[in-house]
Amino acid sequence: MTERVTWDGVPIAEEVPHGAAVTVRRQSTYGREYLILHRAHHGPDFAGDWAWTPPTGARQPGEPILDGALRELEEEAGITGVDIWPVDLSGDWARFCVDVPPDTAVNLMDVEHDSFAWVSAADAIRRCTPELIGAVIERADRIPSCRLEFRPLIRDDLHRLLQWHKAPHAVEWFADGPLDIAAAEAKYGPRIDGVAPVRVEVVEIDGIAAGYLQRYLTRDHPEYAAAARDNDAAAIDYLIGEPTLVERGIGTRMIWQYVRDVVLPAYTGVPRIIASPDAHNTRSIRALEKAGFTRGCIAAPGQLDPEYFCVLDRRRTLGSNAASAAPQS
Ligand SMILES: CC(C)(COP(=O)(O)OP(=O)(O)OC[C@H]1O[C@@H](n2cnc3c(N)ncnc32)[C@H](O)[C@@H]1OP(=O)(O)O)[C@@H](O)C(=O)NCCC(=O)NCCS
Repeated sequence: MTERVTWDGVPIAEEVPHGAAVTVRRQSTYGREYLILHRAHHGPDFAGDWAWTPPTGARQPGEPILDGALRELEEEAGITGVDIWPVDLSGDWARFCVDVPPDTAVNLMDVEHDSFAWVSAADAIRRCTPELIGAVIERADRIPSCRLEFRPLIRDDLHRLLQWHKAPHAVEWFADGPLDIAAAEAKYGPRIDGVAPVRVEVVEIDGIAAGYLQRYLTRDHPEYAAAARDNDAAAIDYLIGEPTLVERGIGTRMIWQYVRDVVLPAYTGVPRIIASPDAHNTRSIRALEKAGFTRGCIAAPGQLDPEYFCVLDRRRTLGSNAASAAPQS
């Protein structure tokens, strides 16, 4: 088989994703602006297909997806130390996005590009052709800029948690959840007190409690580990309770950030993260796939309700960037 290589002869990963595009956004006095880079190959006046793109590049064989995207961002734009998050990691090319401070310096470090511009979404989409390149920016533009933080669940959150379970987009998946505070205390009290193997965190979106996530080791739940056929993983569940915040790309980013900043630091050495949405919960399955999970086996009849076991391979996806945050118990 002929090895695929980049224009400058570097081998490209045979397995998907073959590379990554990173949409870089900043908030300026003119509104939200996007960084686009101009290809040098045909001179400074080159226009048309492939003349302008966001920072984009191929993944090297065996290179973790996040490592490859961060490397390209540094090589093409000189941008380092930023928190890129997934828009969609499920296709042939991974798509990340990042909001950077307005004074972020761009440094064209390689010979591939001769200029850059910060432009509106409309201008970026117009200049970045063919259409599939403009679509990368168009998709990222629909995702709000927001701050996601996680903190442990406390008893004062339980009334919120009950409301979140009843949200129209969630109720179907939490029908067997606790119905009142007493039942919520019975289920979540031990998790809050740290005496159950499950730990629960609230996600705050721009400082407002908006949902929760929980985590546990599969080996602490033998029946679940057997159904998942994995005794060596961490598992997660999650919920955005605020209806206006779903289907805007935030859940994908939330799952990613929770895995990276909370789950992996807490369970160092765990090679895989599992989530097992109901087989009909398309929104949840899609959010997982966009966050880098691959859809795995469905539970065998009689083991659990029909669920997909979606798996994130720590090394393939996050590579050396896993466990960057402080460990949590
Ligand atoms: C699951 C959840 C966290 C996902 O977060 P989110 O912010 O809604 O997810 P995203 O917007 O990042 O992605 C949702 C994807 O599902 C797609 N989707 C939504 N409804 C869909 C449907 N009926 N059929 C197919 N795709 C659907 C969206 O179009 C989007 O994909 P796209 O970007 O390719 O268009 C959130 O929806 C939620 O909390 N739901 C209720 C609780 C729940 O289901 N928890 C999971 C239990 S396992």
